[in-house]
Amino acid sequence: MSTQDDKGNKDFAATNERLIEHSYDGIQEYDNPMPRWWLLTFAGTIIFSVIYVFNVGPIGNGKGRVADYDDDMRKFAAAHPAPTGTVSADKLLAMVKDKEEVHEGGEEFKKYCASCHRMDGGGLIGPNLTDNAWIHGGQITDIYTTVMNGVLEKGMPAWGTMLKPEQLEQVVAYVASLQGSNPANPKPPQGTPVTP
Ligand code: HEC
Repeated sequence: MSTQDDKGNKDFAATNERLIEHSYDGIQEYDNPMPRWWLLTFAGTIIFSVIYVFNVGPIGNGKGRVADYDDDMRKFAAAHPAPTGTVSADKLLAMVKDKEEVHEGGEEFKKYCASCHRMDGGGLIGPNLTDNAWIHGGQITDIYTTVMNGVLEKGMPAWGTMLKPEQLEQVVAYVASLQGSNPANPKPPQGTPVTP
């Protein structure tokens, strides 16, 4: 049955039936159910959460978040192999003579090292890399090892985990190419003089 109230609202009787009996300070409320689309969306999120837990979560047929993470890390490690630390002095010394490699190394140095060692290697927070005094050994393989493992307690980061193997070799070649370049205002020598 379709009736109208005095203001012309349709289904006056039907809406009247929806009034909740309880009255608060003389005010009555409609029983106003959420629209169907809203309820369906809400139910959908609950169903999705159950499926999600069983597939991605630690329980159920999914591999679990931890395995998922390990998987991603394995893929990343495969795509970015860490330097193995076995590189021959001959290879590094040949790279020092290769303009292209030294140039690439210089780009890495600008990005990662210059903030502490200065672009010309004259030293700032980190020591002067252009003189023949070395704290951790001045043979090119020593330099490679220092850069790879860092000196964490002194504030020199371990670059072996951050750079690709070839980047590490290039940046070491760049450092070696700075030997004896005598930049202006260098940091005083630190460590023991080494003849390469
Ligand atoms: C956050 C600052 C910082 C950054 C960035 C940094 N270093 Fe260092 N580096 C140091 C400090 C400090 C030392 C001195 C360690 C010590 O006293 O034992 C050092 C030492 C070194 C040494 C050994 C010097 C010696 O006398 O034996 C080399 C080689 C070196 N750094 C190369 C690099 C290269 C290459 C990069 C970039 C890939 C780099 N550093 C980035 C702070 C830094």
